[in-house]
Amino acid sequence: MLDSPTRVVVTGAAGFVGSHLCDRLLGMGHEVVGIDSFSDYYERARKKQNLESAREQSGFRLVELDLVDGDVARAIRGAAVVFHLAGQPGVRPSWGDHFDQYVQDNIVATQRLLEALREHPVKRLVFASSSSVYGDAEMFPTKETALPRPVSPYGMTKLAAEHLTFVYMRNFGIPATSLRYFTVYGPRQRPDMAFCRFMEALADGNEIEIYGDGEQTREFTFVSDAVDGTVKAASADVVGQVVNLGGGSRVSVNRVLDTLAEISGIEPRRKYMPAALGDPRHTGASINVARDRLGWEPRVSLREGLAKQWEWFLAASARRPEVSPL
Ligand SMILES: NC(=O)c1ccc[n+]([C@@H]2O[C@H](COP(=O)([O-])OP(=O)(O)OC[C@H]3O[C@@H](n4cnc5c(N)ncnc54)[C@H](O)[C@@H]3O)[C@@H](O)[C@H]2O)c1
Repeated sequence: MLDSPTRVVVTGAAGFVGSHLCDRLLGMGHEVVGIDSFSDYYERARKKQNLESAREQSGFRLVELDLVDGDVARAIRGAAVVFHLAGQPGVRPSWGDHFDQYVQDNIVATQRLLEALREHPVKRLVFASSSSVYGDAEMFPTKETALPRPVSPYGMTKLAAEHLTFVYMRNFGIPATSLRYFTVYGPRQRPDMAFCRFMEALADGNEIEIYGDGEQTREFTFVSDAVDGTVKAASADVVGQVVNLGGGSRVSVNRVLDTLAEISGIEPRRKYMPAALGDPRHTGASINVARDRLGWEPRVSLREGLAKQWEWFLAASARRPEVSPL
């Protein structure tokens, strides 16, 4: 599908993962139409910055549009592949009144895109789902066949969107694949995500707030690995499948902080908070399907990836923290 230059659409193009995906696709010579509503979950300026390198490329076109009520059919016309990354992320804010936004940006937006795809068929739709659909999984590493049972409203909306893609595939033949990303990190990470918050607090000499005892484990995936898997999913024989993309190892939050201390040379001051509602205790991906069907393998170790994010963070925030020998 992506063997020769073609037109592709990336929704959520101005976001953390979407902007990296745009850069990669442009580097491969594709014409990229980036769709984004610049939702106010975090600052617009940050999202504009995410797109700086893409916008320098002549093959890039940005369409500022809300998938919920914009002219989606017009924006996707002529595309061979649609990568659907637009959505409202974040587990912790998905309760209460905020839930409406999750329904709109994760479920309704996906339904609108699927309707537009009936009018303008593509060769592949790749949907960015989440490990949050598993909730408190019974088995680790968790296989795609495990019963999904989200423990947060966010995870529930991502699962609903996954199901919607199958509904449209079954009824209208839309060739969809869902990728379950496991906590993605790296340069441009969203400001609400743990590593970003940890780095900010560390550089400013503030206490680092950790939800729970820090012994919860996560499968962390470096962004270039997530992008590799996403690109491969556009061409591989995975229509109708869900595929886990996980970084290859499960690490506790405390261990992440130890590694960050070694990289930065700054001893973190840890403040343990009550565990957050909706956070599963552990996540861990079985990546055999991705290996077999996508020919994909995560390449970046946590240490290497954290060092890259720390380097980016220092440059992007122009911070010069005082380093004292540990
Ligand atoms: N980052 C992770 O660790 C992670 C893990 C699992 C799944 N995901 C999924 O991957 C996708 C990208 O995540 P991210 O971390 O890059 O988030 P992000 O918030 O940085 O990017 C999402 C982008 O979607 C846009 N958007 C939201 N609603 C929209 C709408 N209705 N119409 C058009 N654009 C809209 C936002 O403006 C934003 O720029 C999301 O769907 C998220 O649920 C991310």
